[in-house]
This record gives sequence, structure tokens and C-alpha cells, in this order.
Amino acid sequence: MQLKGKRVLVTGAAGFIGSHLVDALVNEGCITLGLDDLSNGTLSNLSHHEETSLFSFIKGDIKDEATVMHLARKVDIIFHEAAFVSVPRSVVHPRECHSINVTGTLNVLEAARLLDVQKVVIASSAAVYGDDPTVPKVETMIPMASSPYAASKIAAEAYLHSYHEVHGMDTTALRYFNVYGPRQEASPYSGAISIFRSNILEGKPPVIFGDGGQSRDFIHVQDVVNANLLAATAPEAAGETINIGTGVASTVRDVVEIMLKICGKPELKYKIAPEREGDVRHSLASIEKAKNILGFKPSLPLEIGLKDYLAGEIS
Ligand SMILES: NC(=O)c1ccc[n+]([C@@H]2O[C@H](COP(=O)([O-])OP(=O)(O)OC[C@H]3O[C@@H](n4cnc5c(N)ncnc54)[C@H](O)[C@@H]3O)[C@@H](O)[C@H]2O)c1
Repeated sequence: MQLKGKRVLVTGAAGFIGSHLVDALVNEGCITLGLDDLSNGTLSNLSHHEETSLFSFIKGDIKDEATVMHLARKVDIIFHEAAFVSVPRSVVHPRECHSINVTGTLNVLEAARLLDVQKVVIASSAAVYGDDPTVPKVETMIPMASSPYAASKIAAEAYLHSYHEVHGMDTTALRYFNVYGPRQEASPYSGAISIFRSNILEGKPPVIFGDGGQSRDFIHVQDVVNANLLAATAPEAAGETINIGTGVASTVRDVVEIMLKICGKPELKYKIAPEREGDVRHSLASIEKAKNILGFKPSLPLEIGLKDYLAGEIS
């Protein structure tokens, strides 16, 4: 399938990943609609599209069936990024997490089914692997809900799969690992790299929980966007759930050291805080399936990706 000229809907369009996806789709020549309730995203992430005739923004809630139906009527492909994204907040607000992540996804699928949308790609998460210490994470492992957020992503994936099985719909779930890059806001709930960046820019030593030997598969947002474009066009992706990472693990300590070096501030060093309860020690994606089915190849190794993220801040 060619993307040029397709009509697409991006939910969560004003967020970190959604806004980069909008950029890429507009660049591909897609007529792009962006939906967001602005609960966590910001219009400034999309302000460069104000004059773009290919892009329109709609403020609305994924929980609202009528809004989703109205937009699905106009598109060929849906990229579903909107979500309740915080694991710790999901523990305190499980109903809100469920209604956005599970009912919201069901709204997307029902609208897609009723209106014959050709393709639905949704953002899932490596959180579905829970506390299982096995690495690398392979898609055939049994999901484990270690938080309401993880439970909601497992449920969303299950709904997606059921729509493929029952209705033959072309659906794909992408399990993102630790995504970083421009427009990722630093908040107590956001990714470690955005928090380290903000610490370094304020001239403060980044804070590492535990000994810093814990490792993650950090992937630049541009590679996640590319995976979405591939998933939308690869026929073998129908009905599949696919890990999206780099296949390379980096320790948190290494990440901080690389960032301090890039910013020319090695003297800041880092501070150690007590280990956080419930954090998994290691997380790493097997990306064999992404390679085989999507032809996916990560293009930004960590050091290059971090240079891009920190561009403009380097002294
Ligand atoms: N960032 C990561 O490392 C990561 C890792 C795994 C999975 N994901 C998934 O990727 C997707 C995008 O995450 P992100 O990091 O860009 O987060 P984000 O918070 O920047 O983007 C999510 C967007 O969804 C919007 N939104 C929330 N509730 C909504 C609702 N009810 N109706 C309409 N819009 C709503 C928010 O305003 C926000 O703009 C999410 O599904 C998330 O679970 C992200």
C-alpha cells in the first residue's frame, strides 16, 4: 500500500509520538487529521502545521464514540496513539486509565469496522511484559499485567486481535520500548532521558535510582515513527503484535554519561537515589519479528539519537 494521498487519522496527535507521526505523514503526502483532547499534549507540538493544507486538528476525546465515528468516516488508516500514559497514575486512577486505553481503543475499532477503515495501527507498550526477568522480550511470551496501565494495553491488544480474527480487519499493535526524542516533556511520569535532559540543562546532576546498572532498550522517536509507517503498509503485519525497540540494551548510567559528555558537562556527574520498588532490572526487545514482517531497521543508535535530542543545548 502506498501512503501518498491516503487519508489518515492520528489520535494523540498533539503528544510526543503522535506529533512526530503527523510530521512524517504530512511529509509522505497524506491528508492527515489529528485528534487530541490536549490533556497531556500541546498545540505547540503542531504549530508548524498551521499553514499546512494537508493537516487539520480536532480537539476531542477518544472516549466519545460520536467524535471517533465522525472522524473515522473520513479516513483510510488510523494510527491510535492517544492514551493514559502514566504507570504510577494508573495505580491511583485505574478507571480513568481503563476508559481511555481500553474503551477508547474499542471506540477506534468499532468505528473502523462500521466505516470500513482499511488499517488500524495502535501503540502498545513493553509494559505488557511485566516483571518477567527474561530478556530479550519476545512477542510469544505470556503478557503480565504489573500495573493497571499494563493491563489496559494487554486488553487493547486483545481487542485488536479479536477484530482481526472475527471481522478480518487489518490491525497491528506495536509494543514500543523506551521512546525518547524532541518534544518529550520532562515530568515525574515521563521517560528517564527527558528528566536527565532537563536536570542537565538546569545545571543539576541527574538523579539515578539504584546503582544505574539497570538497562533499557531506548529508541529514538524517529525510528518509532518509521515503524508505524511500515506497519501501515506491510501486508504481513495484519493481525500481528510487534516489538519496536533497537535490540540493544543500555544501562541508565551509560545514558547519563553519554548525555553529560554530549552537553560538555561531565563535571555535573550524577546523584544516586534509593532504588525504586517494582522497577524491572533489564528490558530489551527482540526485534526479529519487526525485521522480518516490517523490514524494520533502527536507524539511530543511542549516541546519535541523543545528539539529535540534545541538539541546540550543546555548549
Ligand atoms: N513514550 C514512551 O516511551 C512510550 C512507550 C510505550 C508506549 N507508549 C505509548 O505511545 C503512545 C503515545 O505516547 P506519548 O509518549 O507520545 O505520550 P503523550 O502523553 O505525549 O501522548 C498521548 C496523547 O494522547 C492525548 N490524550 C490522552 N487522553 C486522551 C483522550 N481521552 N482523548 C484524546 N486524546 C487523549 C494526550 O493529550 C497526549 O497528547 C501512548 O499510547 C503510549 O501508551 C509510549
